[in-house]
Amino acid sequence: MNKPPFDQREAFEPHRLTAADMDAEVLSTYPTEAFLSKDYLQAEKTLLWPRVWQMVERESDLPEPGDWLTYDVADESIIVLRKDDGTLRAFHNVCPHRGRQLVSVPNMLPGKVHDVRGSNRRSFICGFHGWTFDLDGQNTYILDPQDWQNKLTPEMTCLSEVQVDTWGGFIYVNMDPDAAPLKEWMGRAGEVLSHFELEKMHYKWRQWAVYDCNWKTAIEAFLEPYHVAGTHTQLLAYGDYYALSRQYGLHSVSSYDTRDAKFEMSESAGTTRAGKGDDPRVSTYELIRENYETVNYSASTETLVRAASRLQTELPETATPQECIAHWLKSARADDAARGVVWPDVPPEIKKESGLAWGLFPNQNILHGETFGLCYRVRPYGDDPDKCVFESYALERFPEGEAPQTEWTYAEPVGELWGSVLAQDFSNMQFVQKGMKSSGFRGPLPNPHQEQKVINLHRNLAGFMRGRGAPTRLDI
Ligand code: FES
Ligand SMILES: [Fe+2]
Repeated sequence: MNKPPFDQREAFEPHRLTAADMDAEVLSTYPTEAFLSKDYLQAEKTLLWPRVWQMVERESDLPEPGDWLTYDVADESIIVLRKDDGTLRAFHNVCPHRGRQLVSVPNMLPGKVHDVRGSNRRSFICGFHGWTFDLDGQNTYILDPQDWQNKLTPEMTCLSEVQVDTWGGFIYVNMDPDAAPLKEWMGRAGEVLSHFELEKMHYKWRQWAVYDCNWKTAIEAFLEPYHVAGTHTQLLAYGDYYALSRQYGLHSVSSYDTRDAKFEMSESAGTTRAGKGDDPRVSTYELIRENYETVNYSASTETLVRAASRLQTELPETATPQECIAHWLKSARADDAARGVVWPDVPPEIKKESGLAWGLFPNQNILHGETFGLCYRVRPYGDDPDKCVFESYALERFPEGEAPQTEWTYAEPVGELWGSVLAQDFSNMQFVQKGMKSSGFRGPLPNPHQEQKVINLHRNLAGFMRGRGAPTRLDI
């Protein structure tokens, strides 16, 4: 039987900050052991990673029958493959005989190993004693089966299956056979984001690195825009970055908020908003150009930047911010349509609800638009709570057949390879990790309005980690 949906379980876990507490924006804190403790990291191996839906890769990376790849997290390794009938299957990457990895997956190694993948597979043959498995995970060959007195059953000799499903063009796996279906897991977050048709986007670039911080420290650097004023001070010349954030059960969203009502419109929650300054024709262009160029040519598109650059010639001086945004988006949409990139029609109320960026529990972030996405995934690295594998990738809607060929590229965390804004984000991570170890640190004081995604991550982690690291109220 499936487990009850997550939010029903919290009623039985009284230590946890509730969803209602989150909505009321109560003051809270949480302990630092989730970031620092080796024991907590070991516990994640049994309590967290084998029980959550996690994104593996884009579906388009396994286009043909017989295509396969490996996904590793903590001590787990999974093989995902495409069968002749087009369906996906996933199996634990371990031979049921004596436990050799079926596919040898070396540790992720900067500049060398990201994952192992291939194509045209009809079977998997274990390199140790030759046991063989078909694409359904069934054993098709054992040397000398009579030695087991013919008592080996298919259940004993098949591969261990892993749940696999897709959403938004992503492949997800869950090692828990009793896990709730992916659709239920995604919940309202999945419904809102489905309007943006992420499945029609393709990689523009994808890069990874190993960082000197816990995986949570790294993902949290991208969960809230509250840090923009302090970390990306140069961006303040172009726009205001007041933010709000909201829990959606397991997941959460952040949006740009407006202190000034004249800038309020359904588009103003995300990246398609007016910049600050007296002439919104100029400031809208400057804001989007600066963001695009310094976030490694992501979080927007060439089309959007070019259309914004024409605002000054196409609109009168008297244009309001609303008129600028409306004209900008209309002309960008037309420019894209002319080259075969058709924008989805996202209803204004969904556009507003969808905000700027989503944190999908536990380790996937998506900053979305109609034609682009900037996404992150973070995983632990080895058994060291002070290290993680950080991956970031840009998605974009391209004209049919024009998506670039990309692969995972190791990139040192410097501005030349990631853009100056992302390099600024990276520059905080190891020092947050170090700072949290100080005996003078009394514990985090997360902003209840703007950093709710961070609190929500810990609230949900605690639900899986038997209450460890649970946020508690500061005001009672
Ligand atoms: S461990 Fe795989 S055949 Fe022996
Ligand atoms: Fe940032």
